[in-house]
Amino acid sequence: MGNPIGIDFGGSGIKAAPVDLVMGDFAAKREKIKTPVPSTPEAVAEVMAELVARFDETDSPVGVTVPGVIRHGEAFSAANIDASWIGVDVDALLTERLGREVHVVNDADAAGVAELRYGAAKGHEGVVIVTTLGTGIGSALLYRGLLVPNTELGHLEIDGHDAEKRAASSIKELEGLSWKEWAERLTVYYRTLEKLFSPDLFVVGGGVSKDSEHFLHLVDIATEIIPAKLHNRAGIVGAAVFTTEKDD
Ligand code: BGC
Repeated sequence: MGNPIGIDFGGSGIKAAPVDLVMGDFAAKREKIKTPVPSTPEAVAEVMAELVARFDETDSPVGVTVPGVIRHGEAFSAANIDASWIGVDVDALLTERLGREVHVVNDADAAGVAELRYGAAKGHEGVVIVTTLGTGIGSALLYRGLLVPNTELGHLEIDGHDAEKRAASSIKELEGLSWKEWAERLTVYYRTLEKLFSPDLFVVGGGVSKDSEHFLHLVDIATEIIPAKLHNRAGIVGAAVFTTEKDD
C-alpha cells in the first residue's frame, strides 16, 4: 500500500497530499481546490474525489479533517461549515464517493496528533493543549500521548461571548485588531484554559502560527506557550496518521 492521503477541509480551501509517515511530511506536492459554496457534504465530497485522483496513490487509505465534532465517523456540529453536515455519516459518504477506506477526524484533533507525533509536542507526556487559531478556534487535549477528542474549547463561553468569536485569527482580521490588541484577547482566552485544565504546555497552531513572533510573547500567562511546528500542514499529516491507525 502507498502513502496514506490526508485531506484538510477548511472554510476557504480543501487541501490534500500523500503523507510520508516516517518524516511526518508531505510525500508529494499539496493540491488545493476552493471550498465550494455552499459547502454541502455532496459538493465537498465531489471536490475531494477530484483531489485524490491527482495523486499516484490509487488505493491507499484517506484521512479527512472536518471542522466540527466527529464521533464514530458522524458529524455532530458545523459552526463554520454548511449546517447540512450535522447527522451525516461522513465516513460512509466519503468511503462510497472516493471508492476506498476513508476516516474523518476533527481538524484540531488531527493537528494535535500531528504535533504530538512530529512537532512541537513531540513525545510530551504531560497535559498539552493544542489550539488552532483560524476561522474558528479548535482544540486538542493531550495527556500521556493520548488524545481526548472533540474538546471544542473554542466554544467556551467567556464574559458572555463564544470564545472563538472574540479571539480567532479571523476576528483579528475582521475587526482590524493590532497584534497587541489581539494578544490581549488571547490572554483572556488562555487564562481561562489555564484555570480549567492546568496544562503543562500550550501549542498554538493554525495558519497564523507562522507569524507567532508578532504575538505569542504578548500573551501574558504562566504556562509555557509555543508555536506549532507543522503550521498548516498539521491537519493533512494528522488526518493521514489517524486513518492509518484506524486501519490497524
Ligand atoms: C469548530 C471545531 C473546529 C474549530 C476549528 C470550531 O468552530 O466547532 O470543531 O475544530 O472551529 O476549525
